Amino acid sequence: MKKYVLINGKIKKFKKKITVSADKSLSIRWVLMAAQAVGQSIAYNLLNSDDVNNALNAVKKLGVKVIRKKNLCQINGVGLNGFSLKNNTIIDAGNSGTLARLIIGVLAKSNKTIVLKGDKSLSKRDFSRVIRPLKKFGLSFKLSKNNLPLKFKGTNYLSPIKYEELKGSAQVKSCILLAALNTPGKTIIRCLPSRDHTERLFKFLNLPIKIKKNKKYETIELTGQKQFGGFNYRIPGDISSSAFFIVLTLLSKNSEIKIKNININKSRTGIIEILQKMNAKVKLKNKKIYNEEKVSDIVIKSSKNLKSINCSTEMNSRSIDELIIIFLVCAKAKGISYFKNIQELRHKESDRLKLSANFLKMIGIKVEETISTLKIYGNPNLELNKSYIVKNYMKDHRIFMMSCIAALTFGGKWKIHDPDSIKTSFPTFLKIIKDLGGKVK
Ligand code: S3P
Repeated sequence: MKKYVLINGKIKKFKKKITVSADKSLSIRWVLMAAQAVGQSIAYNLLNSDDVNNALNAVKKLGVKVIRKKNLCQINGVGLNGFSLKNNTIIDAGNSGTLARLIIGVLAKSNKTIVLKGDKSLSKRDFSRVIRPLKKFGLSFKLSKNNLPLKFKGTNYLSPIKYEELKGSAQVKSCILLAALNTPGKTIIRCLPSRDHTERLFKFLNLPIKIKKNKKYETIELTGQKQFGGFNYRIPGDISSSAFFIVLTLLSKNSEIKIKNININKSRTGIIEILQKMNAKVKLKNKKIYNEEKVSDIVIKSSKNLKSINCSTEMNSRSIDELIIIFLVCAKAKGISYFKNIQELRHKESDRLKLSANFLKMIGIKVEETISTLKIYGNPNLELNKSYIVKNYMKDHRIFMMSCIAALTFGGKWKIHDPDSIKTSFPTFLKIIKDLGGKVK
């Protein structure tokens, strides 16, 4: 792919139905669970992206057979801890924090040493958040600082744990649940809410999971070592990928879009509620449930009179991957928008809080950034006509796509580097932009 793309001017009005890439969180979880099932599993519409291909390559290295044909993927599962691997097997998680954190849990019982590595961005991210609970289970780690590459070894003598997870991180919670799956006895996690796909998948598979929720915390109990059979699973579209087209439509004139078959799990729909509060015309239509997950179409219309938001912290984990694109709507809204306790944005594929603040400043928006908050002074008359360059952002796929949406809705001449970053989560992003009439060279 090219080193950069050029965007010169706004997108013209459009009215279309589109489909976006399949959900990345569900795709990675399906791969990891299908590999541990007894017998054959098939996924329809598995995301075809680097993060998911790295997950497939990882389970292949553990001795699992994978057959991929276009829209269909078959995995012949080996049962819980049925992996066959050599000592010092290297697993490359590429750019994927989800894969890297979850697979250590999957391998909790393996008594071979494993080397886990990743790309430049992943090698900067924090792994102490999963190492802490995993050590309590009995795993041993060798690492320099708290980053990749790391060497670890599971054990045959895992003991169940009681753990408090206070970051509101689904990756940490899921890593613990996957380790618990391989552990005899009952593991108990008390955690702040975060996306609950792993829990729903466990329920779908009839695994002995119990969840209690109160106002602030969730308590999850899982009794481990129950084998489960192969399963078929259809993966809906990703709301995080839809987010870019939701905002593209809102900020364009006289346009409308329908995005079909999107996962609208409540732990992921913060973007819909936030934008509706800001006066955006976004609706969920044709709701249905399959495989324990809610799915619907999303219909979006151009929206004028957008107003600022003082975002409730309850929304943070429910829109964690969408906040950076929501910030663009705040830039065009009337009033001052305020986000607090969003420090987790600093621990993503890049420091998204810093990069977003710098981005908004570059396009002339006043912002105030602290370690954990962002204030955005909106300008409903925002129109750009200068030249802008976006580069050195750790090839963060979401920063690339957010920059394209800014260029196509605010105007100006843009040079945006590293388009190949979209291969991580949404390889068809630029094709859809072009199909809608966006001029990207
Ligand atoms: C993910 C959880 C989120 C999210 C990431 C995918 C998952 O991270 O940002 O893109 O699939 O579990 P945290 O759980 O660390 O917040």
